[in-house]
Amino acid sequence: MRWMRAAGRGLLVAALLLVGSVASGVPAEVSWGGAGAGGRGPLTLATAGDLTGYLGPLLDDWNAARPAERVTLVELPDSADETRSQMITDLRSGGGRFDVLNIDVAWTSEFAAAGWIAPLERARFPLGSFLPPVVDTATYEGRLYAVPYVTNAGMLFYRKDVLERAGERPPRTWAELERQARTLAPKHGLGGYAGQFLPYEGLTVNAAEAVYSAGGAVLGDEGQRVAVDSAAARTGLGFLARGVRDGWIPREALSYKEEESRQAFQDGRLLFLRNWPYAWAGASGSGSKVAGRFGAVPLPGPDGPGTSVLGGSNLAVSSKARHARSASDLIAYLTSEAVQRRVLTEGALPPVRAELYGDPALVRRFPYLPALRAAVLAAEPRPKSARYEQVSLAVQAVVHDVMAQHQSPEAGVRRLAAELDAVTRRR
Ligand code: GLC
Repeated sequence: MRWMRAAGRGLLVAALLLVGSVASGVPAEVSWGGAGAGGRGPLTLATAGDLTGYLGPLLDDWNAARPAERVTLVELPDSADETRSQMITDLRSGGGRFDVLNIDVAWTSEFAAAGWIAPLERARFPLGSFLPPVVDTATYEGRLYAVPYVTNAGMLFYRKDVLERAGERPPRTWAELERQARTLAPKHGLGGYAGQFLPYEGLTVNAAEAVYSAGGAVLGDEGQRVAVDSAAARTGLGFLARGVRDGWIPREALSYKEEESRQAFQDGRLLFLRNWPYAWAGASGSGSKVAGRFGAVPLPGPDGPGTSVLGGSNLAVSSKARHARSASDLIAYLTSEAVQRRVLTEGALPPVRAELYGDPALVRRFPYLPALRAAVLAAEPRPKSARYEQVSLAVQAVVHDVMAQHQSPEAGVRRLAAELDAVTRRR
């Protein structure tokens, strides 16, 4: 093991204790209780694309203070799926390229079950200061495998200028959204509504939000039971399919990921956009045609507020990490109050530290914070499954066909139930 070889240097080899043993089949837990060597040295941090370019300066500060533990940022592609596959390609081939991994909350179980990331010592991190739902996304089979870093909840961005001119309020229900998207958007040469509808993780999120908002579920019992065959799921997928059929969801939205959809909104091409809060920064920036002319509210649902999927990312230590003690310190740094504040102010990303959501200066600057906090607290996590990827791929394939009008919502839900059944039964 590379971190053990580096452990010499005359210090006690206890900085990083592997508790448990491979022989007993118990995964090794990374512990920072002891003093010693080998745990410290340079690191790589792998992350999905840093869309707001805030991570470089954060790491520059770390690197200036700790030149011997220099962190090299490895930026992978913007989309969740491509990032996951690049990380997994490395981890499967024995790992070593990445020491610290900024992983999507949806992947913790899969990475933990595969043994790619090491369990962590709970006491080392201020889990009690985080918004409660985020901590659960970092655990697998009762153990902590990562530390929450960024949270996320979908919000509805809307053109305030257009709604105000029509004397309308932002929609609270799907019927209101549909009516406004259908009637107001064309008058202003706008598309009605878009989200992330390309078949990838973003489509799973958007579809799950539609199903959850209608009161349905995809899987039950911790991912063991298929729960998608319901009237609620048909209603949820029906909403998305109808939008494309009736034209208030523009066809090109079927190729949108987060960035394409943000661009469409900030170019002034959409009345409504479902996106994560990071889109606020771009839409307020100098390159935006809608700066100062939009707002964000909770996602609507069939009869009132809808339900968001819980997004975000967790920081994990690769089980092959070269310098696990430095890795742990880096995670402690990135989740400290001061850095979490910068995650919001410079990165436009929702922090995991609960107290920041009530900070009056931050709320003045980011008026969506209270709504976001409520959305995160009420958000539904994705199923915890070591087979999460297969679950997500099945959802994407079916929902794409339903939105592209290749299959009715009823037939789509039946097919999805059968495919998920096969996935959950597979040994
Ligand atoms: C965002 C979310 C993440 C989600 C992804 C889907 O990055 O934070 O949880 O899986 O979008 O595209």
